[in-house]
Amino acid sequence: MEKKHIIITGGAGFIGSHVVRLFVTKYPEYHIINVDKLTYAGNLANLKDIEDKPNYTFVKADICDFDKMLELMQKYEVTGIIHLAAESHVDRSIKDPFTFARTNVMGTLSLLQAAKVYWESLPEGYEGKRFYHISTDEVYGALQFDGTLFTEETKYTPHSPYSASKASSDHFVRAFHDTYGMPTIVTNCSNNYGPYQFPEKLIPLFINNIRHRKPLPVYGKGENVRDWLYVEDHARAIDLIFHKGRVADTYNIGGFNEWKNIDLIKVIIKTVDRLLGHPEGYSLDLITYVTDRKGHDLRYAIDSTKLKRELGWEPSLQFEEGIEKTVKWYLENEAWMENVTSGGYQRYYEEMYKNR
Ligand code: NAD
Ligand code: TYD
Repeated sequence: MEKKHIIITGGAGFIGSHVVRLFVTKYPEYHIINVDKLTYAGNLANLKDIEDKPNYTFVKADICDFDKMLELMQKYEVTGIIHLAAESHVDRSIKDPFTFARTNVMGTLSLLQAAKVYWESLPEGYEGKRFYHISTDEVYGALQFDGTLFTEETKYTPHSPYSASKASSDHFVRAFHDTYGMPTIVTNCSNNYGPYQFPEKLIPLFINNIRHRKPLPVYGKGENVRDWLYVEDHARAIDLIFHKGRVADTYNIGGFNEWKNIDLIKVIIKTVDRLLGHPEGYSLDLITYVTDRKGHDLRYAIDSTKLKRELGWEPSLQFEEGIEKTVKWYLENEAWMENVTSGGYQRYYEEMYKNR
């Protein structure tokens, strides 16, 4: 069988590292090229267990660099692209929207244009090719507490600079299908949790703070609702959709698992306290209500019925099981957390990749 060369962007980040691991181990016949700029959120330690596999290549590069993207596609004769690289934290986007427009909008456009130029130069053109763009439910805006869910037909109403930049990139991906016939797919997923998430996001941040008896900054009244999915279930969905999803289509990914922030925080506290041998309720005093996030979306909730109906995907983990696994992982991997919070990983890899 002819070898398939697939670029996964953002593979050193949280979700990307799980997708890279799944593809490298499940498909030894594929060659996976992880293209990542290694921003503060990218960490090659997330892939230590697979970095020596013969079907894996890491390339440190910026997706905004069109020439480099084209060169990589030509060099490796890439037939598939799974695009996860992005700036992903809402709070950072509120402080620095330009970086989000640059990477999420211009970076996606540069990748699309490179794929267009390369694939259109081949005799078979777009046949057998696929550009799969990973997006978020945040592009749909915010729901009220009325039981409604985001479907694939929900109108885009992004509120934060992050979600506005992701919405824009989704539009560009669809435009490349409609204008040039590029075989694209977009998926919109709910909040992910699990190992290797950068501790600026709620769940790893709070686990780490509880461990170190630091305050837990709850935005507003803690009443906002998020819909949580275990990251490996997202990676499984990406695998399925990359192989079986309908071109030019959109799929929502989520586990019908809504939690009010404050209730979720209490579950995290209870789990960490139990695993550290503290009495129940020991860390509740760390809860600290702080000024709300600007423009804080009230509620996200994803309807993933289409994905179940058409491709048979369902989450494999119950939330209780997922949270237990996640808390255990962060408690057992203190060296990873220490490295990430101290920034040590960046200095190390800067040295290592300086001359490549
Ligand atoms: P992350 O912040 O953990 O990782 C992002 C990765 O992209 C990092 O490795 C970073 O180095 C890399 N990157 C950033 N800018 C780059 C650039 N210019 N060129 C090359 N690489 C660059 O993000 P994540 O949480 O893993 O999210 C991955 C994707 O999934 C994003 O597109 C995000 O919008 C989407 N998503 C995330 C969630 C979630 O809950 N985390 C939910 C739905 C969708
Ligand atoms: P986050 O993990 O940043 O994901 P997103 O904003 O993409 O949903 O935040 C999840 C929820 O937790 C969100 O409603 C904001 C809230 N939150 C806090 O209350 N305190 C915090 O320190 C953080 C990081 C988030």
